[in-house]
Amino acid sequence: MALNKDQLVSKLNWFYSLELNQVDLYKSQSKSFSNEYAGLVFEKLAEIEQLHVDNISAKIRELGTSPTKIGDVISPIVGSIAGKIIGMKDLHSVLKINIMIEQKAMKDYKELINNVKNSQYGSNDLMKLLTQNFIDENLHTEWFKTKLSEIQTLEFSIKP
Ligand SMILES: [Fe+2]
Ligand SMILES: [Fe+2]
Repeated sequence: MALNKDQLVSKLNWFYSLELNQVDLYKSQSKSFSNEYAGLVFEKLAEIEQLHVDNISAKIRELGTSPTKIGDVISPIVGSIAGKIIGMKDLHSVLKINIMIEQKAMKDYKELINNVKNSQYGSNDLMKLLTQNFIDENLHTEWFKTKLSEIQTLEFSIKP
């Protein structure tokens, strides 16, 4: 599918909104889990998602428009109200939700990479940016999975 400029801008605005939502989400999670290592990781992830917000914004501006926030894009991904997720105190559930969101981001970055590749907008610059964001989301997902598995191992063990 060859992408036109409006379609590219609207997809980039979707990512812009998602990345902004993730900055807020990870910031709030870093506060909820401030007494454990996961809290530090969430804080670092919020910073990385902010870099994604910034690099996507710069791309949208290069295309001659301003980034536009399209509201809450997290609720449709996780099937629950984003506001409800923000205050969650159970790390197990938080990690599961984070994985869902990161995997949706990866799926959509991959799709956009494939669509942009053969379009007139498939500059090396844009391809590299999308690929690098994808890789960051992949690394985030893997850390969440590792942590989740650690929690599950503890949950299914017996303390004598
Ligand atoms: Fe991101
Ligand atoms: Fe991420």
